[in-house]
Amino acid sequence: MTTITRTILGAAELAGLLGQRAPTGEQAAVIEAPLEPGLVVAGAGSGKTETMAARVVWLIANGLVRPDQVLGLTFTRKAAAELSTRIGLRLRQLAATRLVADEVVLAGEPTVSTYHAYAGRIVAEHGVRLGVEPTSRLLTDAVRWQYAARVVQVYDGDMSHVTMTPASITAHLLDLADELGEHFVEPAALRRYTEQLIAGVRALPDSSRKSGVYKDVQNVLTRQLARLQLLPLVEQYIRSKRTTEAMDYGDQMGVAARLAQEVAEISRAERSRYAAVLLDEYQDTSHSQLVLLRSLYGDGHPVTAVGDPCQSIYGWRGASAGSLQRFPQHFPLADGTLLPEPAPVRVLSTSWRNDGRILDLANAVAGELRAHGAVVPVLAPVPGRALDGTVRCALLETAQDEAQWIASRLAEVWAENQALAARDEPGLSAAVLTRRRSQQRVLETALRSRGVPVEVLGLGGLLDTPEVLDVVSTLRVAVDPGAGDALLRLLS
Ligand SMILES: Nc1ncnc2c1ncn2[C@@H]1O[C@H](COP(=O)(O)OP(=O)(O)OP(=O)(O)O)[C@@H](O)[C@H]1O
Ligand SMILES: [Mg+2]
Repeated sequence: MTTITRTILGAAELAGLLGQRAPTGEQAAVIEAPLEPGLVVAGAGSGKTETMAARVVWLIANGLVRPDQVLGLTFTRKAAAELSTRIGLRLRQLAATRLVADEVVLAGEPTVSTYHAYAGRIVAEHGVRLGVEPTSRLLTDAVRWQYAARVVQVYDGDMSHVTMTPASITAHLLDLADELGEHFVEPAALRRYTEQLIAGVRALPDSSRKSGVYKDVQNVLTRQLARLQLLPLVEQYIRSKRTTEAMDYGDQMGVAARLAQEVAEISRAERSRYAAVLLDEYQDTSHSQLVLLRSLYGDGHPVTAVGDPCQSIYGWRGASAGSLQRFPQHFPLADGTLLPEPAPVRVLSTSWRNDGRILDLANAVAGELRAHGAVVPVLAPVPGRALDGTVRCALLETAQDEAQWIASRLAEVWAENQALAARDEPGLSAAVLTRRRSQQRVLETALRSRGVPVEVLGLGGLLDTPEVLDVVSTLRVAVDPGAGDALLRLLS
């Protein structure tokens, strides 16, 4: 045990010692927050992740926690690696200052992982308590699809209300199975609910002007009827996973959440292992992730969550920006009273990533989200950059024109970047976002033809390449001669 005799180092002072940029007052308040639950709600590029990394180092530098007592969770492996790098860099800088004893800074490393990997560890260590063998296979998305596609292929029950291709049915089946798992709802319960809903609507009296239901209502009913016919497939899919002792990521998260809820020992162990927990991208946590985290750490444990309600990207998967807003109630301060005090909320309102004009546009677009209740401070530019940045907008006739237009601008940026690199100055980066995957191919070609190097993120780009599409179509037709869209591609 290290006893602290010196006074606590401030966030700004520490940043100065480490050669890091000075935090704003808002950032310092987050970094120096007491060891108790707290939420940070802030917009894109306001330094949420950066501030979290700084908090970890501040806690360690002041001897409040040891490095190996820190748990940081985020969504993607890429983000976890980045957070880990940011923390690691600062810890090495801290060690170099000789400000803190080596055994304090070098006592192990913080654990930074994805929410999924963390759930995976809980299941691997404790799953047997719920009958989950450590040998259970984890299904990748592709294998999951195969399981579901097989169920769809051999199913011969009534599908009179389902007017979709087998591929869409497979996708729907998986979505439905995921949502049910995510919210701990059994298919039978959804069946009962759906039947009651349909019966309830049909039992309503006709309006004075029309007999029967309105078209919009009929559409809803038709979808409910289709859902009822999909449920046996969902049940079959769940059974096929069980009989082969396989789990998908959703199942794994569900099992971890149930373990955390039911086995008090697990939360005791996790709490004593991690003295400080940091949750990044909290707006994207799903229901089962929330249950997991709350069961483990909801008793007043020092959890710092950061998130932006306007960046919630998993709405379809059971994540709701609502969980961000409710964090203070879900993770109250442990004051031992019956009505615990909600955790404090802090904000960051300076955008470091964008100039004033771009922020104006972003704030205007996000206005719609605010009107729907997203509570997050409006981002302000770094002082002096209010009039910086340029927003250009174009309405072009074809996708080709659009790609050329974007490529010509990016070619200029690339040239500027080369010039900066030649002078050893920090380079510029550029990203192109597309609404649909199919647009990426055209853009990529246009950019490459101007000598701009391109990285297409995800498998998306590859799967839309004509050569790959031909191979995939051939394989699909070989397995299923009725695969209409694939057949058409090969014949045309
Ligand atoms: N006090 C500061 N001074 C200068 N730059 C800063 C400061 N705080 C953060 N930044 C920079 O701002 C950029 C954005 O930071 P960061 O990625 O942490 O934001 P974020 O809020 O997590 O973004 P996102 O919403 O995309 O998750 C980074 O390049 C970071 O280094
Ligand atoms: Mg971030």
